[in-house]
Amino acid sequence: MRCRIGVIAGDGIGPEIVREAVKVLDQVAVKYGHEFDYTELLLGGASIDVHGVPLTEETIQAAKACDAVLMGSIGGDAKTSPWYQLEPSRRPEAGLLGIRKALNLFANLRPAYLYEELRGACPLREDISAAGFDMLIMRELTGGLYFGARKTEVVDGVRTAVDTLSYNEQEIRRIAKRAFEIAMKRRRKVCSVDKANVLDSSRLWRKVVEEVAADYPQVELSHMYVDNCAMQLVMNPAQFDVILTENMFGDILSDEASMVTGSIGMLSSASLNDTRFGLYEPSHGSAPDIAGQDRANPIATILSAAMMLRYTFDLDKEADAVEAAVRQVLKEGFRTGDIRSEGCTCVGTAEMGSLIADRI
Ligand code: IPM
Ligand code: MG
Repeated sequence: MRCRIGVIAGDGIGPEIVREAVKVLDQVAVKYGHEFDYTELLLGGASIDVHGVPLTEETIQAAKACDAVLMGSIGGDAKTSPWYQLEPSRRPEAGLLGIRKALNLFANLRPAYLYEELRGACPLREDISAAGFDMLIMRELTGGLYFGARKTEVVDGVRTAVDTLSYNEQEIRRIAKRAFEIAMKRRRKVCSVDKANVLDSSRLWRKVVEEVAADYPQVELSHMYVDNCAMQLVMNPAQFDVILTENMFGDILSDEASMVTGSIGMLSSASLNDTRFGLYEPSHGSAPDIAGQDRANPIATILSAAMMLRYTFDLDKEADAVEAAVRQVLKEGFRTGDIRSEGCTCVGTAEMGSLIADRI
């Protein structure tokens, strides 16, 4: 198969983790007889440095011409980086939000899985971590507070800021459908998370999710308020299969879910639209404090590449091989610094990538 893959190395640790994911993909290409063509794309701080803006039309068009995009991470240290002297709409994060919107990537899948080998890193009580967990957060990514009208003004001498949280039924329906379809391939449970005791947008969310659920009688649907969900994630994470939620709640809950795995350096993500196109990136940030030191964990990016093989290219066997290689390397006791434990062999970013590629 011939695949056109856009590559956004990005900022901070982005370039070094993406390099390892490409190393693994190249091994997949050799082993399974595929051809991966890579196109380098600029986004975030790397784009500001060259073009003065975090996202250009050129990047959008080049991304659209690819089948999928693999991304490292964008952004820098807000205290020291000159990027953060710019107005908010010109900072690295604006580039990320812009590309999500421009490519209509409304469905953000963030799996949070407790690896047997990394159970020791789980910050939860042992009786809770012993049950394990394997959930997928399905976050709406192009609506809600992130994209509603906002303004800051002085009203009667008082500084006032407004953000708008709005959803229409179409936006809710398409993400809900995605959640149910994915649940059908998993444990057939969807927990829809909202704040329907307070917000109109959540009350509509709940109604539309129930309408969609009628088409998926095999899937068990439950509803949960977001504050309760934040609590349940640390009390009993094993109860969750697919968590379906709006943009802002999903941003917050997905960080919480990743932290309870104890290893944010392991978590992949996919942002999809209604075609086969996807933007694949690790769930973690750009970690500028350790950039360029061969200390970053490339596994989240490598697992994001596996999601790309699975969701965009339908290459399930190849995706399985990448995931199995990651598990094998962990089983053999290799760890990057962020997930190190006693008796394990600590390796750098590049060596971790090579160890995984060797096991494909
Ligand atoms: C994420 C990030 C982004 C978001 C930031 C960098 C704008 O936190 O992908 O979760 O809030 O969506
Ligand atoms: Mg976030």
